[in-house]
Amino acid sequence: MLKPIVLSGIQPTGNLHIGNYMGAVQNWVALQNAEKYQCYFCIVDYHSLTSELTPAERKNNTLSLAAELIAAGLDPKKITLFVQSQVPEHTELAWIFNCVTPVAELYRMTQFKDKSTRQEKNINTGLLTYPILQAADILLYGGQLVPVGQDQVQHLELTKDIARWFNNRFGNYFPEVKPLLTEIPKVMSLLEPTKKMSKSLGGGHIVELADEPKSIEKKLSKAVTATAGGGTAPGAQNLLMLLKQFGTTELYTQFLQQEKTGTIRYGDLKKELARVIGNYFSDFRKRRAELLLNTTELQNILDHGAQKAQAVAQKTMSEVRKLIGIR
Ligand code: TRP
Repeated sequence: MLKPIVLSGIQPTGNLHIGNYMGAVQNWVALQNAEKYQCYFCIVDYHSLTSELTPAERKNNTLSLAAELIAAGLDPKKITLFVQSQVPEHTELAWIFNCVTPVAELYRMTQFKDKSTRQEKNINTGLLTYPILQAADILLYGGQLVPVGQDQVQHLELTKDIARWFNNRFGNYFPEVKPLLTEIPKVMSLLEPTKKMSKSLGGGHIVELADEPKSIEKKLSKAVTATAGGGTAPGAQNLLMLLKQFGTTELYTQFLQQEKTGTIRYGDLKKELARVIGNYFSDFRKRRAELLLNTTELQNILDHGAQKAQAVAQKTMSEVRKLIGIR
């Protein structure tokens, strides 16, 4: 029996933070280690062209993200880890999908609407057709299961539609795609804990996996825990959730108890949390630094991943070209 195909993608927008880790990367590592799937994990550098990264940032981020994914536990021997632009079939299939997708469907995407308000001066066409390239990422490999966060469900629905539009017009070819949602609490910003932790909010809002213990302590010391009118403050909730994830059960229950009885000292909670997060990622930081010391070796790993991916992508494209009457 062939193992079901899992595929996911991540943009090279900067260092991984604990929101990315809990929301995606940790889950990818678990899927890899389950040994029940054929996994493809793709660094989507072409997608990152829709936002404002400079060429140097794009280049550096791509390599450091590869190092971080490996340092976090992805094993390029067990899965296919590759960079999207190294497999040009992605953009080729995206063009074909452009021609089966009604433009009105793209204007409905909430991420497009969000990003259009966030980058008002740069509403480029790529921002609109972004989910078409995403559909190509997935369907090139016959991806069936796609581990993503809730915010990507609409894009996966569209991917399913695109497969159907293609199949109706050119013959049944692409399989049905399903999102693989995991029950993970959303990690919130340290400074604005009603918002999801996101790099775009600024450095003080996030804890990066690569942050040194001193810097984690400093960022956490500024984390907002005050209540904005009754109930447990979202900031305090967020810190407790993180303690549950990264600390021991004992430590967590101790602070939870104190929170319930109103004896909690947030300064102490922050110190302990900084300590456990720093420890949790200490191997990660070492491994990351080692990998980044030898970028030639890292590039070799990515080249090899791209070769494995491209073998599959080329087969798909030669079949697709036949179906649409090109060659
Ligand atoms: N759009 C996804 C995000 O913003 C990233 C992505 C690109 C992706 N291609 C993908 C996710 C394919 C899953 C599958 O998070």
